[in-house]
Amino acid sequence: MEKLDWDAIEGVKLHLEYLKEMGIRDIVCSERWGHSISEKKAFTLKEIRDQLGDCKRCKLHRTRKTLVFGEGNEKAKLMLIGEGPGYDEDVQGRPFVGKAGQLLTNILHHIGLQRHEVYITNIIKCRPPNNRNPEPDEIESCRPFLLKQIEAIKPQLICALGTFSAQALLQTEAKITLLRGKFYDLSGIRIIPTYHPAYLLRNPEKKKEVWRDMKLIAKTLAGEL
Ligand code: URA
Repeated sequence: MEKLDWDAIEGVKLHLEYLKEMGIRDIVCSERWGHSISEKKAFTLKEIRDQLGDCKRCKLHRTRKTLVFGEGNEKAKLMLIGEGPGYDEDVQGRPFVGKAGQLLTNILHHIGLQRHEVYITNIIKCRPPNNRNPEPDEIESCRPFLLKQIEAIKPQLICALGTFSAQALLQTEAKITLLRGKFYDLSGIRIIPTYHPAYLLRNPEKKKEVWRDMKLIAKTLAGEL
């Protein structure tokens, strides 16, 4: 029988107590995403964009107009990750520029942030036809590049926008109503899911929950959590 390594167990215990003090109440062991975020020297965002090139790694290249890489501050403390480009984003080549994007901009203003201070991107970089949900092969094709973006920015906090982003990043099928407003860990980077701005446009009564999540984000960025 294998001997227990009590020092290692004690170390894990101390680390869990530390996370609890930091306000992290849930830990998701997200192998496919989390373990891949490495310590090695990261590429710059420009290098990552160049690596993507005129990407034809999945079928979405046939129907997209523009690959929407992401935009914002390379040194952002806060990274926001949505699902994938919609019509307006596909046309303009920028993330969150349609109606949902305008609401996202307002939500950021609410906690004193401008778009240029954060980094905004999506799980997948090309618009699915008729805005259908992204398919597994499409997510897989984009995954290494999103991980490299996270490595390049090394944000203090990631906000996963909506069900799809939260489920993809946390490798879970749990509902957003359960996931939102709590902190999770992705290889040392904290993630907090909240409702997608497009969902808020359809369900404005949910805005108060997003304000609560935004307060948690603001406190975390201020070093209070
Ligand atoms: N919805 C998203 O998830 N991402 C965008 O860029 C725009 C709308």
